[in-house]
Amino acid sequence: QLTPVDRAKFAAAHCAADFVQDGMRVGLGTGSTAAWLVRRLGQRVRQEGLRIIAVPTSTRTSQLAREVGINVVSLDEARWLDLTIDGADEFDAELTLIKGGGGALLQEKIVATASDQMIVITDAAKEVATLGAFPLPVEVIPFGWQASKALVEEILASVDVMGRQSSLRMNGDRPYMTDEGNYILDLALGRIGNPRQLAMVLNQVPGVVENGLFVDIADQVVIGHADGKCETRD
Ligand code: A5P
Repeated sequence: QLTPVDRAKFAAAHCAADFVQDGMRVGLGTGSTAAWLVRRLGQRVRQEGLRIIAVPTSTRTSQLAREVGINVVSLDEARWLDLTIDGADEFDAELTLIKGGGGALLQEKIVATASDQMIVITDAAKEVATLGAFPLPVEVIPFGWQASKALVEEILASVDVMGRQSSLRMNGDRPYMTDEGNYILDLALGRIGNPRQLAMVLNQVPGVVENGLFVDIADQVVIGHADGKCETRD
């Protein structure tokens, strides 16, 4: 039995799957909404004979895509993509996103920026006036992560945010590890006044690999509703 939020995610994924056309090179996102998309595309491959080349953004998505019969290649094999469809944790009116709640932000950003187009699939609850209620994920290399954490918190004093607390994401009693073998700091910012500036400033810290702010990357947001209907923003 699906919850209303799950039904909304399912609807968004199914609406966005219709944007995928025969012969396309498609980036596949990560998370529960993206998983519905992958299953739907698998169905289209099996039922309609849809031919696509797909680049997944995580080992989880890669495994699922192969299971449902999608032709999976690496980004280096595909080189460029027509379209990436992925979830998000928050989005605003400018279509700036917070991503990385599922820990795959680095590959997600690389794949999305290698795509001609990025479509975000989401439920309505993720739309916000100002980003930042969702903790901002920042991927750091394990070497000297505490020094990176201190530097990140120091830098936050110079930008327009409300909070400055960061915490190392855990997986049980060990640090959570990304597909690239890195750690994630979750930044409790409350409100992000200038996402573009924050994204640039965070990436100046040597131990920071990437941050979960997607600025000027998404082209369209498909919002699903529990009744199966969708609306789009662009
Ligand atoms: C994965 O790293 C994230 O960027 C996801 O896209 C995000 O967490 C959305 O997840 P759900 O679709 O599960 O809400």
